[in-house]
Amino acid sequence: MIGNWLDIGPVTQIEPGTARTLPVLGCEEIAVFHTMRGEFFALRNQCPHKQGPLSQGIVHGDVVTCPLHNWNISLRSGKALGDDEGCVPTIPLKVDAGRLYLLRSAVVTRAEAA
Ligand code: FES
Repeated sequence: MIGNWLDIGPVTQIEPGTARTLPVLGCEEIAVFHTMRGEFFALRNQCPHKQGPLSQGIVHGDVVTCPLHNWNISLRSGKALGDDEGCVPTIPLKVDAGRLYLLRSAVVTRAEAA
């Protein structure tokens, strides 16, 4: 079970309302968000509009506003909200005993394929 999940460190590394990026070998950069409600989400760090760095956006509720052109992206689904259309891949994440884990297969599939 543990082998399916990649330990990416303690939950305390990300302040509520902010995000951290995670370079993953052979894969696109991942952004891990901590909401003010205490939830964590992981998405590819690329806005579906023009690849803006979502990790630098403003987090409100379970939404991040892209820093480039203010699209609102759902952290839950990766989908653009409102009139905008597009979707960014999300990565399954779990919190266990104060640490963050990403689903290994969602992170390393591309790296292994490369
Ligand atoms: S790149 Fe994100 S809104 Fe344009």
